[in-house]
Amino acid sequence: MIEPGGYVRDIFLKPVGDSVTAHGWVKTRRDSKGVSFIQLSDGSTFADLQIVVEAGAILDEVLAGVTTGASLRVSGELVASPGAGQAVELKASLIEVIGTADTATYPLQKKGHTMEFLREKAHLRSRSNTFGAVFRVRSALSFAIHQFFQERGFLNVHTPLITTSDAEGAGAMFGVSTLDLLNLPRTEAGQIDYTSDFFGKRAHLTVSGQLEAEIFALAFTNVYTFGPTFRAENSNTPRHLAEFWMIEPEMAFCDLDGNRALAEQFLKAIISHVLNHCEADLAFFNQRVDNTILSTLEQVATADFEHVTYTEAVSILEKAGRAFEFPVFWGADLQSEHERYLTEETFKKPVIVTDYPQEIKAFYMRRNDDEKTVRAMDVLAPRIGEIIGGSQREERHDVLRDKITAQGLPLEEYWWYLELRKYGSVPHAGFGLGLERMLMYITGMKNIRDVIPFPRTPGDAEF
Ligand code: 4AD
Ligand code: MG
Repeated sequence: MIEPGGYVRDIFLKPVGDSVTAHGWVKTRRDSKGVSFIQLSDGSTFADLQIVVEAGAILDEVLAGVTTGASLRVSGELVASPGAGQAVELKASLIEVIGTADTATYPLQKKGHTMEFLREKAHLRSRSNTFGAVFRVRSALSFAIHQFFQERGFLNVHTPLITTSDAEGAGAMFGVSTLDLLNLPRTEAGQIDYTSDFFGKRAHLTVSGQLEAEIFALAFTNVYTFGPTFRAENSNTPRHLAEFWMIEPEMAFCDLDGNRALAEQFLKAIISHVLNHCEADLAFFNQRVDNTILSTLEQVATADFEHVTYTEAVSILEKAGRAFEFPVFWGADLQSEHERYLTEETFKKPVIVTDYPQEIKAFYMRRNDDEKTVRAMDVLAPRIGEIIGGSQREERHDVLRDKITAQGLPLEEYWWYLELRKYGSVPHAGFGLGLERMLMYITGMKNIRDVIPFPRTPGDAEF
């Protein structure tokens, strides 16, 4: 049996004089005047444990295996550290090299690497300072999200990943099929015959769990999903992934204003949690990635968000006196440059934009009395643009049926969604937060590929 020796994180809390055993991977090793200093990391906390090997304490044959990337078990005494940067260090009396790492080929060296290079080494990049911090924050953020909803009595629902309906009505979906691509069955009209496919009809990976979450909200009142989502849009941008994680709360007996209030409370609560639980990791991002991170997060956690309607936003943009790449006019969708202008220049904080034109938003959003706009809501954040998209849902059966047809969607595929509006329909609303967009906001990381363990983007699904 190999017993765990405890996390490095816990070792830091022990008193000087304790005998401890640490496990981890060597980040660096430095030798001076017969003494060796090893930085050991087990990923449990930002700080590395410094191991001091005094002359003669460990056999040279063993020390020879202590190279960057190797895994070790180290036992010894915790002593006060004379060096700056750490309060305690471990004076080694026993070192066991568990797995060696060939220094000639180990890709992570002390010198900084580009993010692009590290992406190609995604099997090792989690051992670096930056990615250690990113994935600890990602884990803490996920916990905070569950906690926020669980404390408020929301039911966590696992919606399906394989679906036969298009939740966003946008058509950017990955197909799921077991048909032989080289020998596709055809109907008499020459179309692909999906009746002999695995599900007996055309199936896809889901773009959102919302429609099924609505079913659950109309039984459990307040629910949320937290799962992977897939979009086959060919967007090769720093803020798009083909596979990303989305959190979708859905509330019955709730309108757009209630939805907006919840979204604001939610973002503030999860930011506060990360501020309180990931201090060392955030300090690193603030120092090395973007020195406005901490002040911004502290401000967002307390100050009120701004709220404007789409119509008001368009008029602000029209008066901006700015030549935008994409023209601004009532009816056009807001592009990232417009979202950034509103958040970074006009309001300098998160902005919630509501009541967008019906034509540019999904079929399920509730139509306003003006018959031109819908009860949509996007939460825009500085640097990132849209991090949340949501709406009050169309709960009126006839209006919903009209909207589905008007968008050219097949009514028969939405039969169950329509039927919810026949049996105890209620005003209800919800939103979706992109986990990776939120992480970009919190960490300051500039590319969404660097806040998910193994990014899937057009042309790339390695690992
Ligand atoms: O605005 P979206 O498309 O909304 C929905 O899917 C609704 N069904 C949500 C709801 O009302 N329950 O997506 C929601 C959020 C976006 O604001 C963005 O943060 C993120 O999901 N998102 C993406 N993140 C990374 N890569 C992509 N390709 C993304 N597409 C959307
Ligand atoms: Mg959206």
